[in-house]
Amino acid sequence: MEWSRKDLVSIAELSAEEILTVLDVSATFKEINRREIKKVPTLRGKTVVLLFYEPSTRTRLSFELAAKRLSADTVALSVSGSSFLKGETIMDAAMNVMAMIPDCIVIRYPYAGLPARLARELSCSVINAGDGAHEHPTQALLDLCSMRERFGRLAGLHVAMVGDIAHSRVARSNVYALKKVGARVSVVAPKTLLPQDISTWGVEVWHEFDPVVKDADVLMMLRVQKERMDEQCFPDEREYAHFYGLDRRRVDMMKPGAVIMHPGPVNRGVEITHEAADGSRSIILNQVENGVAVRMALLYLCLGGSADDR
Ligand code: CP
Repeated sequence: MEWSRKDLVSIAELSAEEILTVLDVSATFKEINRREIKKVPTLRGKTVVLLFYEPSTRTRLSFELAAKRLSADTVALSVSGSSFLKGETIMDAAMNVMAMIPDCIVIRYPYAGLPARLARELSCSVINAGDGAHEHPTQALLDLCSMRERFGRLAGLHVAMVGDIAHSRVARSNVYALKKVGARVSVVAPKTLLPQDISTWGVEVWHEFDPVVKDADVLMMLRVQKERMDEQCFPDEREYAHFYGLDRRRVDMMKPGAVIMHPGPVNRGVEITHEAADGSRSIILNQVENGVAVRMALLYLCLGGSADDR
């Protein structure tokens, strides 16, 4: 088993072997999640603190469920209930949390770089639950877990990410992860929704969606992240949906066996229609289920749970 890290800050720093270790360990935890009694004593006596300075449904709940199913104690703090609103800096808050001696801090923060700093400065484990437009490593791992489960492999798969690549930490983490395990990666977006350094990412860049729809094994639709835009990046949602949305016509063009993914939350009618999101090719809810197992695996690996308990 390839893992000796106390933290998970980014996919960029992981090797292919470490990524595959997380996926292998996740498979054993997925089995536990499907039992009637979904609890094992692996992390009994450990404390996991969830610090969420941005909204979250899937990531926050799945980390909390993951920790509880491993018998860890959890405490969650969101920005609306914290002294951040009284002007306390995030580093002061982190040092105060550390004084309560947690074993792990799971942090979501609106700006890049904080999880890396906390991992350097704190003795407990730090797991990045999304930092600005930088990385969302656990999302990429659950995405790869879902692809491997469906196709039985990752090497050679053609994965197309479609939409707001520029503002997407999910896209960045997935590109790092997919390239490390030998997948072929395409991004599809208007120029205004691509990062300026896209030519250095080592991916195929497309501005037209239809040719990619026909060739991809996975269409990963991304939300247009208006909250991260300083200016309007496309004329209107209707035009965006026409050129870059996944609708019935495009679903009918997909290869046999090809699947639809989305990290959520979904903007129905913009990047994806109801028919595509809820249809037989969609594995969106499999992604959510795998999110719990992947986060259990990461808590187990970073906090040094015992193999026997697993
Ligand atoms: N995919 C994802 O990060 O969803 P949440 O923002 O709901 O956590």
